[in-house]
Amino acid sequence: MKKEAAKVISIFSCKGGVGKTTTTLNLAGIYDLMGKKVLIIDLDLNSGGIAVSLNVDVKKSIYNVVDDMSNNRFKDIYDYTSKYNDNISVLPAPVDPREALKVDSSYIKFLIASAIYKYDVILIDTSHNISPISLAALDNSDNTLFMVTNDLVDLKNVRSMISIFNDTDKTNYKIVFNASKDTGKDYFSLFDIKNIIKHNIDYTIDRSFYIKNIDKYIIDGEILTLNKKIRLQKKSDVNKLTKLANSLIENKTKSERGA
Ligand SMILES: Nc1ncnc2c1ncn2[C@@H]1O[C@H](COP(=O)(O)OP(=O)(O)OP(=O)(O)O)[C@@H](O)[C@H]1O
Ligand SMILES: [Mg+2]
Repeated sequence: MKKEAAKVISIFSCKGGVGKTTTTLNLAGIYDLMGKKVLIIDLDLNSGGIAVSLNVDVKKSIYNVVDDMSNNRFKDIYDYTSKYNDNISVLPAPVDPREALKVDSSYIKFLIASAIYKYDVILIDTSHNISPISLAALDNSDNTLFMVTNDLVDLKNVRSMISIFNDTDKTNYKIVFNASKDTGKDYFSLFDIKNIIKHNIDYTIDRSFYIKNIDKYIIDGEILTLNKKIRLQKKSDVNKLTKLANSLIENKTKSERGA
């Protein structure tokens, strides 16, 4: 068993399709390259995309963990995780949506606790539907990447969510603006976005990280940041993401974190 607790990072948004799953996988790839043991927990319980994106067989899911925990049958998180490669493992969302409904959010903290000394980094992909499950993920993370896009309705919802974070003294999050998803027209500048959400943008995934044939990689179960060609062609984007990945796992004192 490792001595140090894993860093727990959740990836969150108010709107669907902003790039949460892709970013989760890209970060997993970067931590893998650093030699870190990574567990990806797919808390997008109704429409989880992690196992399918990685072509990983789902033998057991989060539903089985929670079901076994509630019936005192749970022994080891390794009994439920599926391996993608030597460093990256996945705790998949249930394949059957009826099982997703049976996952009680009060178990999320126990689920994370069962893995915390077995991995270096735990990445939690969430659903944009703000549910007790997503909130439990945020509450039990060291840091949250709050992903936003150039969409007015999304940005207004983000502003409301940030004010809830302020009211509840939540400070351990970073606003990530994803400009890489499509090559469409820019409606708002970074300056406009900051004004709409009334918060700084902590990190931007630049338009230059747009991957034209992304579907090919998904069909092959490939992680973009583990692909040599992409690492070469998108070197500066991958380097930038690596800096973000490093900043998320560095040990800070409580006062540096603003706690
Ligand atoms: N850098 C990129 N280049 C090209 N396409 C991208 C890029 N990042 C994400 N996409 C595409 O954008 C779409 C949405 O991305 P993704 O599934 O990661 O978002 P999500 O926030 O997880 O969505 P959901 O809320 O449905 O779970 C996907 O089709 C994905 O392949
Ligand atoms: Mg997703």
